[in-house]
Amino acid sequence: MTTILIQGSSRSNGDTRIVSDFLVKKYGWNFIDLAEKEIGHYDYEYKNSNDDFIKTAKEILEYDRLIFITPVYWYAMSGIMKVFFDRISDLIRIDKDTGRRFRGKQMAAISSCNSPDKYEGFFMPFKLSADYLGMTYLGDINVWIADENKSVSEEVNLLLDKFEKEQLTLS
Ligand SMILES: Cc1cc2nc3c(=O)[nH]c(=O)nc-3n(C[C@H](O)[C@H](O)[C@H](O)COP(=O)(O)O)c2cc1C
Repeated sequence: MTTILIQGSSRSNGDTRIVSDFLVKKYGWNFIDLAEKEIGHYDYEYKNSNDDFIKTAKEILEYDRLIFITPVYWYAMSGIMKVFFDRISDLIRIDKDTGRRFRGKQMAAISSCNSPDKYEGFFMPFKLSADYLGMTYLGDINVWIADENKSVSEEVNLLLDKFEKEQLTLS
């Protein structure tokens, strides 16, 4: 089972990256930072089809398990991550062979913010997108980096362990 952690934060080295680095080190996952890519908004005339989207999608499709990690921005996923999901529409319309490669893969999602507060419905777009794409949705978790202590707390570490053991390792 190969795994890629896909980060969509507006800053490459912010709070979400602290969690990403922790996960990569702990579980040996591969990592991709969407903020380093040039990925334009969805366009009905596919004006952005020569940007980094298709090659980034192909890169993540090399893995069996795709884990999205996004900060909470305005009670929702980051804009960068939402644009990435919007652009999957390109694969359903103009590069169907690549689009079909999502089928049978696994998806999970992680939100990061500064408190344990959870927002109802936050993960719904991930779950429904997985269903639509024929992927197995493994589950999700909210983690937080407390403002005064820029590291993964023991409490969050234990939650991540439970998440990894109980939700991510179904197969
Ligand atoms: C534009 C923006 C919107 C935010 N909206 C929320 C929010 O709705 N709820 C919340 O708990 N935190 C919110 N936050 C705080 C971030 O989720 C939090 O600081 C997170 O750890 C930032 O991760 P980053 O450093 O990777 O961007 C927001 C931050 C920003 C910059």
